[in-house]
Amino acid sequence: MQTIRDLPALRDATAAFRTAGERVALVPTMGALHEGHLALVEAARRAADRVVVSIFVNPMQFGAGEDLSRYPRREQADARMLADAKADLLWLPPVEVMYPAGFATRVTMTGVSEGLEADQRPGHFDGVATVVAKLFNQVRPDVALFGEKDYQQLAVIRRMVTDLDLPIDIIGVPTQREDDGLARSSRNIYLAEDHRAQAVALPRALGVAARTIERGGEVAAALAQARDTLTQAGFEVDYVELVDAVTLGAFDAARPMRLLAAARMGGTRLLDNVAVAPITSG
Ligand code: PAF
Repeated sequence: MQTIRDLPALRDATAAFRTAGERVALVPTMGALHEGHLALVEAARRAADRVVVSIFVNPMQFGAGEDLSRYPRREQADARMLADAKADLLWLPPVEVMYPAGFATRVTMTGVSEGLEADQRPGHFDGVATVVAKLFNQVRPDVALFGEKDYQQLAVIRRMVTDLDLPIDIIGVPTQREDDGLARSSRNIYLAEDHRAQAVALPRALGVAARTIERGGEVAAALAQARDTLTQAGFEVDYVELVDAVTLGAFDAARPMRLLAAARMGGTRLLDNVAVAPITSG
């Protein structure tokens, strides 16, 4: 696996892939890789001939008071994991390559980027859209892969690619989970042992609510019950919401829906979401 830190070398390497007629996949990450990321790399290997993984802890998507400075950075361990997973190229841009002096452009989105996470993290999705647009222009992939765990992010990127006519297929990869069901996340390492044990309440509460709704149970009551379960388990709940699976706007029970939640356990903010199938009457 090649590791590249400057843009001209990246352009040469990816141009060589394209000249050889190879299909290129990009897996954008912020490092601190875990099984969830490896599932993205595996899916990328199935979707393309060459797999480029980027690691860049993007300051633009962190708000004031968020965990930018303590976000886990494990470059060497990450590089070893990616080499074992048979990625072809690791793109590791320094911050001054990504945001050189004078950088003044931002991709700003509305609609799907509003509400849910954006209520808690204003400007977050503009930061994500900006860096992902840059990564797309730098690598020029045919396909890019993102985890469904960050479901709103996936919806934002799909929207951006459609709106900006970017010729890139976006693949959403199902959330990878620990044995007890907790979604894998780079932030799980912040959880103290007792909090880690309690955190399993998050996927369980979402699963119960999703099944209740799919069986025709009242949505407001199912969501209230999920919030209550989470609070009793020791979470501080930011939101538990049912939305349309594509627009993330108001749900229509006849269309695919998504149940999304964010909650804090001992200061660590965890996200999760599950699909809710349309309810067919009769
Ligand atoms: O999901 C992430 O790790 C980041 O938000 C991404 C997509 C790499 C952009 O910085």
